[in-house]
Amino acid sequence: MSHKEQVAAKIASALQAAGVEGFPVEKITDMLETPPNPAMGDIAFPCFQLAKALRKAPPMIAADLANQLHGAPLREVQVAGPYVNLFLDQAAVANDVISAILSQGADYGSKNVGNGRKVPIDLSSPNIAKPFSMGHLRSTVIGNAIANIMAKQGYQPVRINHLGDWGTQFGKLIVAYKLWGDENKVKAEPIKELLKLYVKFHEEAEKDPALEDQGREWFKKLEDGDAEAQRLWQWFRDESLQEFMKIYELMGIRFDSFQGEAFYNDKMDRIVTLLEEKQLLTESQGAMVVMLDEYDLPPCLIKKSDGATLYATRDLAAGLYRHETFDFAKAIYVVGNEQRLHFQQLFRVLEKMGYEWAKDMHHVPFGMMLKDGKKMSTRKGQVVLLEEVLAQAIEDVEKVIEAKNPSLSDKAAVARQVGVGAVIFHDLKNFRLNDINFSWEEMLTFEGETGPYVQYTHARACSLLRKGDYPGANGSVALVPEALDSKEAWAVVTMLNNFPDVIERAREGFDPSQIGKYVIDLAQLFNKFYANVRILAEEDAIKTTRLHLVAAVVVVLKEGLRLLGLEAPEEM
Ligand code: ARG
Repeated sequence: MSHKEQVAAKIASALQAAGVEGFPVEKITDMLETPPNPAMGDIAFPCFQLAKALRKAPPMIAADLANQLHGAPLREVQVAGPYVNLFLDQAAVANDVISAILSQGADYGSKNVGNGRKVPIDLSSPNIAKPFSMGHLRSTVIGNAIANIMAKQGYQPVRINHLGDWGTQFGKLIVAYKLWGDENKVKAEPIKELLKLYVKFHEEAEKDPALEDQGREWFKKLEDGDAEAQRLWQWFRDESLQEFMKIYELMGIRFDSFQGEAFYNDKMDRIVTLLEEKQLLTESQGAMVVMLDEYDLPPCLIKKSDGATLYATRDLAAGLYRHETFDFAKAIYVVGNEQRLHFQQLFRVLEKMGYEWAKDMHHVPFGMMLKDGKKMSTRKGQVVLLEEVLAQAIEDVEKVIEAKNPSLSDKAAVARQVGVGAVIFHDLKNFRLNDINFSWEEMLTFEGETGPYVQYTHARACSLLRKGDYPGANGSVALVPEALDSKEAWAVVTMLNNFPDVIERAREGFDPSQIGKYVIDLAQLFNKFYANVRILAEEDAIKTTRLHLVAAVVVVLKEGLRLLGLEAPEEM
């Protein structure tokens, strides 16, 4: 039980003794606040909501209640108007928190909410033969962090890369390749070359519309399993995927599945049949649609007039497949905000089909990456911009290391961890729906609210442990209370104590930025502690206690970074 819950339990039983009903521990826990300033206490309980039940003014309630509250973990209780302000017994709390962290290690903050149930997470999902965009980067980074957070809380995430590897564009690509393609060029620079062919197709089709028909024919052939069409498609897919894999490897991201849109090709008839059986299909200008008027949504297009299925049809098949395969607790789609309508339609169609599990599906949208106020897009012909961004970040970090710590061993590995970490963190410290302004300075500085700053703080703390010959915590730790008797130490302890709650909030809101902001706060508080409190120059017992606190900070910073998808080098 956390200290907050312990305090809530005390309040709840005091209220119960006073005959007040309807205020169970969970409700009290939610009502607890953090005072605006630490001098006013560690926890505040506002009494407004009790006025009705007790028929008394809130300040009087606060005064009465305060008299009933005592015992561990409380040190002091004060009344401030309608609030009861509670001071925790710092030595006892510090002992609990630091012992918990040092004994649990990376498990600190874990909780079994998910009971091992599976959660398919649709993330990254770039389109074959097209550049990997900033949007796909955001999806990759946010989705991966959400997967880590879900796992931390007892779910079993299934990372699915729903590749955009099907659709009429592949018919066009085949035509273009057969007309103008060069095998060696595609092999050398697959995405660049395939994109060129695709662009050329559209230019030529303006002059010669017959090309469009050929494109449709070849897609039809592909859907029907024609050998040549299949072979070319498979080749384009393999080559593109190899390019994407370079990015994933650099970022240390793995997927459980690459079943993209093509995988559902043979699962589409079933969807159409089901929709027919349930009498949900309506004809509209030759196409088949599901009407969604009752939800104020435009119709969902299922089949074009030429019989071809669409993006939405494939997502319906994927939804059904994921439910049958994983019996999921939740299904998550980390896809840009511009596809909001698509997912509303998707979930509503499944609901109309009678699948009550549609309520467990969540679109987790995110905003755009802007540069100079404009959408950062991969311009025509410009290829895998992202790989360049990562390479540049790594190179910049290498320069910093060369200047600051040239004797560091394994410089290249650290530069990769920090460079990639900078890119990931730059994204995750912001609430996902906000647009992000892409800025090298903001991303790479070791001093601002950046990944490198947090990683650097972690490395500093590690080096402190090395220099202090920290013995480690074997079994229980015996802390000397006066060693932590400073506002700086208490601020760090309080922050460490919050970590489990922060993870919980991050999971509930599919919001990794909670953890991004948390690790920055913790790093800042730790640096204040480090700047104001002597550690290594103290006598043994004091020094060891302070080093225990440092070791606890190391554990939590590293685990916070890991949840976000960043590594934490011990030296940099
Ligand atoms: N490939 C799509 C795109 O780039 C994203 C796919 C998202 N996932 C899904 N199940 N629809 O826009």
